[in-house]
Amino acid sequence: MKALICTAYGSTQHLVIDDLPTPPLLPTQVLIQVKACGINFPDTLMLQGKYQVKPACPFVLGGELTGHIVAVGSAVQNLAVGATVIAFTGWGGMAEYAVAEATRVYVLPSAIDLVKAAGVFYNYSTAYYALKNRGQLQANESLLVLGAGGGIGLAAVNLGHILGAKVIAAASTNEKLAQSKQYGADWLLNYQQEDLREKLNELTANQGIDVVLDPVGGTYTEQAFRAMAWQGRYLVVGFATGQIPQLPLNLALLKGASIVGVFWGAFSRKEEDEQRANMNDLIQWFLAGKLAQQAISTCALNDVPAVLEAIMQRNFTGKAVMVL
Ligand SMILES: NC(=O)c1ccc[n+]([C@@H]2O[C@H](COP(=O)([O-])OP(=O)(O)OC[C@H]3O[C@@H](n4cnc5c(N)ncnc54)[C@H](OP(=O)(O)O)[C@@H]3O)[C@@H](O)[C@H]2O)c1
Repeated sequence: MKALICTAYGSTQHLVIDDLPTPPLLPTQVLIQVKACGINFPDTLMLQGKYQVKPACPFVLGGELTGHIVAVGSAVQNLAVGATVIAFTGWGGMAEYAVAEATRVYVLPSAIDLVKAAGVFYNYSTAYYALKNRGQLQANESLLVLGAGGGIGLAAVNLGHILGAKVIAAASTNEKLAQSKQYGADWLLNYQQEDLREKLNELTANQGIDVVLDPVGGTYTEQAFRAMAWQGRYLVVGFATGQIPQLPLNLALLKGASIVGVFWGAFSRKEEDEQRANMNDLIQWFLAGKLAQQAISTCALNDVPAVLEAIMQRNFTGKAVMVL
């Protein structure tokens, strides 16, 4: 089978497309014929050997795939050959066939658009877990989304809007902000051009932000934290800048605020029932056309390295999906 293989940790120079044998199937797994695979920021980290999980090289990239089950392991009970599914695999998805643990496979309605579906559920699952389970976001609360033109950011803007929050989208370019407006942002903030803290105080009439979703880190974190409301919740999602920020803890005390870690991968394994319930909500919203999918662009397996480069250069808006 054709696959995109990372031969050594480093850069996109270490990616090759080659033929591999179909991966062997363990009793707890299913084998999926891949139709599409989402391209995500964590793929860039895994390629560089900077992700918390480090598969041994050579390995196949791709953690979010859609397709059809073609074989079922002997211990798998709830999945059958022929089912249309999405699977979260960590890696292994950018190939004609991939194996997935049955616990991380979700059946989709057979009529669903598998290309769009491969561009939605990873980011939306993370953002939904962050806002609902960790942030306890309520209707009419204010929500600030940093990196609002990125994959997680756009999903958070969209879900914040669905949940009835007042959403402030913050990003580095007006193009990214225009996209987040289409996803339901109420206010836009260009943090390359405006002082983040001052603008947040202005937008909230000094009431502060109830929930901040931060996939970016770096210098924005402290500025955003200083603009939080009493009993605000600061959701630590990621560090796209590459800088893990440090925060004076007196700020948490003064605001009665919570700093809340969000690790969706661990949640989806440790709290399988909650994750399935979240996926059911998201699939229903997807089918009802509530999840914005206009920013999904598609590419061939050959073009994945260029997309990964654009993500690493901060030049990518929305979400890309590799289609076979
Ligand atoms: N906690 C979890 O469970 C979980 C799950 C999935 C992903 N993540 C993490 O969430 C973070 C964001 O993922 P994503 O898929 O949203 O990524 P993305 O689509 O590439 O968006 C990240 C955004 O961060 C901003 N940014 C600032 N400095 C950057 C830099 N040096 N390089 C790249 N982007 C930079 C960019 O927005 P501006 O240009 O507008 O600033 C960019 O749009 C990553 O760190 C990822 O590992 C966490």
